[in-house]
Amino acid sequence: MNILVTGGAGFIGSHTLIELYAAGHTAVVIDNLSNSNPVALKRVAEIIGIKNIPFYKVDIRDREGLEKVFEEHQFDACIHFAGLKAVGESVEKPWEYYDNNIGGTLTLLDVMRKHGCKNIIFSSSATVYGDPAEIPITENCPKGQCTNPYGWTKSMLEQVLMDMQKADPEWNVVLLRYFNPVGAHPSGRIGENPNGIPNNLMPYITQVAVGKRKELGVFGNDYDTPDGTGVRDYIHVVDLADAHVCALKALERKCGLGIFNVGTGHGYSVLDMVKVFIRVNRVDVPYSIKPRRAGDIATCYCNPSKAESELGWKAKYGIEEMVRDSWNWQRQNPEGYNEE
Ligand code: NAD
Ligand code: WQD
Repeated sequence: MNILVTGGAGFIGSHTLIELYAAGHTAVVIDNLSNSNPVALKRVAEIIGIKNIPFYKVDIRDREGLEKVFEEHQFDACIHFAGLKAVGESVEKPWEYYDNNIGGTLTLLDVMRKHGCKNIIFSSSATVYGDPAEIPITENCPKGQCTNPYGWTKSMLEQVLMDMQKADPEWNVVLLRYFNPVGAHPSGRIGENPNGIPNNLMPYITQVAVGKRKELGVFGNDYDTPDGTGVRDYIHVVDLADAHVCALKALERKCGLGIFNVGTGHGYSVLDMVKVFIRVNRVDVPYSIKPRRAGDIATCYCNPSKAESELGWKAKYGIEEMVRDSWNWQRQNPEGYNEE
């Protein structure tokens, strides 16, 4: 299939490109580079062994720019990663998040249908469950109250896509609810490259380990969890990338609407992550306990069996590979892509 990959220069998009080509697909990337670096695409092409990945620096809110791409290419499906994702920033700048994520996606969907491309995989998030009503979380768990505008953009866009698919069954829509993506390509050539101070746990740990930050703050040790720190379902980004390849097969089978959790089904605490990181990588990660972070929940992990039975997808990598590959990337690229 020929796939339009929005946000393809980003963390998950860049890893997905590799798995797409490995499965025999081709891709065209659009990205406005607001949170990514074109060096990532250069390295993806190197790993795949092609000259370059077709790339357009286009914003998904730019209708004319999108039209031009669709006039030049015929797409079988779109994998839609493009979006802003910083939870804290979304609280400060809600309009910017609704404009970029919702406005952008509405424009993209309109251009897609105009050009007869009605197959989409959407990057959703565990955040749509809010404080989950059940653990492990199945797809039947009711969606919850999001604690920030970012989360609402995901929840609302799921609704938009479901309503469009219902009104026009020619659409095939797969909503992938990612849990906590970490890790990097085993080559260490591509990985997560956050701007400024990392919001997420794993890039914070790797930046402490590499000496860029003094110590990790552990946000709360008084949660109702085995060691008091927050428990999450970390998933290796290569496994997550592979889930998109499996979801494409569902689109080909004309699946209508499909909603899937993408996680391992195992929960690890913040201190578990720190300890495994130190043991596997033999590097120190100083940390201290800090107050809870606003909006955090105690425990979040999923039951991923629906993705296994309906998509034939299951995570292959465990926590040790996740910490090993995150560190391999950071160690080889202490300044991320900024070095090149
Ligand atoms: P990322 O920021 O690395 O990648 C997103 C890409 O989209 C970036 O390259 C950015 O430049 C681009 N982009 C943003 N707005 C755009 C616009 N208006 N037009 C064109 N390009 C635009 O993030 P990621 O971690 O790779 O996440 C990919 C998707 O998965 C996002 O939609 C995110 O919300 C979702 N998601 C991420 C996580 C996570 O923890 N990383 C978890 C759940 C869901
Ligand atoms: C994990 C655990 C923190 C940083 C967020 C978004 C979610 C999704 C994934 C996109 C928590 C603790 C963290 C630190 C810490 N993104 N922590 N010190 O909060 O589960 O999910 O990213 O959709 O929407 O909310 O991930 O990596 O920020 O935190 O102690 O410096 O690590 O409190 O328990 P989270 P995270």
